[in-house]
Amino acid sequence: MQKIRIKNRTEIEKMKRSGQAAAKVLHTIANAIQPGVTTYELEMVSRKAIAELNATSSFLGYEIPDHPPYPATICVSVNDIVIHGIPDVKEVLKEGDIIGVDTAVNIDGYHGDNAYTFPVGKTTPDAQKLLEVTKESLYAAISEAKPGNRMGDVSYQLQNVAEEAGFSVLQNFSGHGIGRHLHEEPQVPTNGKPGRGVRLRPGMVLAIEAMVNAGQSSVDILDDGWRVTTSDGSLSALFEHTVAILSDGPEILTGSPIWENQ
Ligand code: MF3
Ligand code: CO
Repeated sequence: MQKIRIKNRTEIEKMKRSGQAAAKVLHTIANAIQPGVTTYELEMVSRKAIAELNATSSFLGYEIPDHPPYPATICVSVNDIVIHGIPDVKEVLKEGDIIGVDTAVNIDGYHGDNAYTFPVGKTTPDAQKLLEVTKESLYAAISEAKPGNRMGDVSYQLQNVAEEAGFSVLQNFSGHGIGRHLHEEPQVPTNGKPGRGVRLRPGMVLAIEAMVNAGQSSVDILDDGWRVTTSDGSLSALFEHTVAILSDGPEILTGSPIWENQ
């Protein structure tokens, strides 16, 4: 197992810059989401925003084991797509859809990673509830990301808030440490038990990902090698922040105005 890379103050300042850049890209994409827009058009908006920030995409060309290189700067996960949806000229957003947008950028050698699930126009009360609960589970998890706690305290919140609402979390996908690499140790599972797992220390930076299915937790990977869908066709939502663990508690590095409404 690789070891956990603790970041010093200077590195955390740099990660705040990449986190803020990632947040700006997500905010810019949010403003472009409306019925009739294709997910490929959102990819174009993202590329322009990343270039204007003098950043580079952490996703484009990224390789994870057993996957082809990722072909875009964003993951767009519409309705029953859980994660890793690839932008497509033929995928047109329609009123009532929900779309998870995940994007990460590199500035000055450090990565910032975030995701948010948006309603397209007006959506159903059920979908709205899924969005609210998933976002709430992320904030509950973040509040446990403090020195002295363990990873299980964070993971438990992701699982418990979702399950209390009658939803389910993924079994085999996790958030992750982040820094000079997009994916570092430790993993941040979406399920766990309080008091178990890695002890959290100041200087750890985590990309905490809340991934919640409205129905069952079972998922399938489609034959492009990337897209993950719910097996039962139910909706799925994704919210992610990059969070630094400081001696006095968690600091969200990817905050932006999109998180304040809804
Ligand atoms: N935020 C997701 C993750 O950290 C998105 C990965 S897309 C990839 O796993 F291209 F980087 F793989
Ligand atoms: Co991530």
